[in-house]
Amino acid sequence: MNILILGGGGREHALAWAVKQNPKCDRLIVAPGNAGIGAIAECAAIDPCNAAAVLACVEENAIDFVIVGPEAPLAAGVADALRDAGILTFGPSAAAARLEASKAFTKEICDACGAPTAAYARFTDAQAAKDYVRAQGAPIVVKADGLAAGKGVIVAMTLDEALSGIDEIFGGAFGAAGAEVVIEEFMAGEEASFFILSDGSDVLSVGTAQDHKRVGDGDTGPNTGGMGAYSPAPVLTDAIQAQVLDEIVRPTIAEMARRGTPFQGVLYAGLMIENGRARLVEYNVRFGDPECQVLMLRLGAQALDLLIACAEGRLGEARAQWADDHALTVVMAAQGYPGAYAKGTLIQGLDALPEDSSHMVFHAGTALRNDQLVATGGRVLNVTARGATLREAQERAYAMVQGIDWPEGFCRSDIGWRAL
Ligand code: AMP
Ligand code: GLY
Repeated sequence: MNILILGGGGREHALAWAVKQNPKCDRLIVAPGNAGIGAIAECAAIDPCNAAAVLACVEENAIDFVIVGPEAPLAAGVADALRDAGILTFGPSAAAARLEASKAFTKEICDACGAPTAAYARFTDAQAAKDYVRAQGAPIVVKADGLAAGKGVIVAMTLDEALSGIDEIFGGAFGAAGAEVVIEEFMAGEEASFFILSDGSDVLSVGTAQDHKRVGDGDTGPNTGGMGAYSPAPVLTDAIQAQVLDEIVRPTIAEMARRGTPFQGVLYAGLMIENGRARLVEYNVRFGDPECQVLMLRLGAQALDLLIACAEGRLGEARAQWADDHALTVVMAAQGYPGAYAKGTLIQGLDALPEDSSHMVFHAGTALRNDQLVATGGRVLNVTARGATLREAQERAYAMVQGIDWPEGFCRSDIGWRAL
């Protein structure tokens, strides 16, 4: 089978690494890929959001299966264009990707199917939004409706923060994503993520994870795309997973099918757990980054079989085989991230690190210049390890970090602390 993966971050490196180990995979192309991906697959310099360019690549290389990594091509309808052309594709239609692309839409689906989530109201007018916030009081959560690269959410501890958040969003800080504002009840508790494949009717769990969104040790400092993650998430017990499947995931999948926009792909449920019960914070319609890295290290080659079964509508007969193990990933970022940071700095020492089914450095933002590895993004490497215990996985990952010679990089030193 010839396979194309769209995307070029740590998530796509982890997907490529798992896919490549499966004997079903003949040729593997990743678009656009990165330096780490280039070591195990062919990279194609095309824009994953450009459906015409993706279709041309599929035709030229006799691609049999496409896996869409990030949300932007999904929201842009690239999976629709591929399926219309008769190509087996993993990832939801643009209509189903609204579960991530519009927070107001997700709230509407939760209302329709009775899924537990924060109480909310939606506004297209700043004055009405402010009146509502004043009436509700703080803490309260203010969100831009659309895709804002993880930045359009203000968890306001005071009324002033909420009011200025409303001004910021309606003032255009998030462009068209801020044409509508969703205001939510603040939910207390512990956050965790649950990843579920759906073929439009059946569902299959592919693991739980927790990430660390703040840049600094002890969960301090500004929010980031994620500084590390581990799987499984101990807070998501079997009983809570069953509650989430029964009360949130299956009703959502049924409601999407009932509306004629079935969801096919991976549903990433962001959950808040308090007093033994979970409520939905948000959906994403793709694997988390860096959560995918720990899930793939645990799943290995079978991930490809599961993604194909999902795309072919055969999830009802699919099973995931779990070892009783743990995986943890430490993100190495360029100094300054999530603010301004230098690009093009030299990274050395990776060649001497172990690389096997328990140790992998996935690349998130790297390139080769004159045969040397350089950083090209904010989040640059995902140092990932597996172990019989979370502690063992953590020790292995940080031992690898020690071997990386990159003076302009940094990482948190406490990934996994909450579970340990
Ligand atoms: P989102 O982009 O919706 O995931 O929001 C980003 C982060 O804001 C989440 O991961 C939560 O930590 C926080 N958050 C979002 N909505 C709420 C809520 N209703 N109550 C408490 N925290 C929230
Ligand atoms: N790590 C959070 C995300 O992928 O959205």
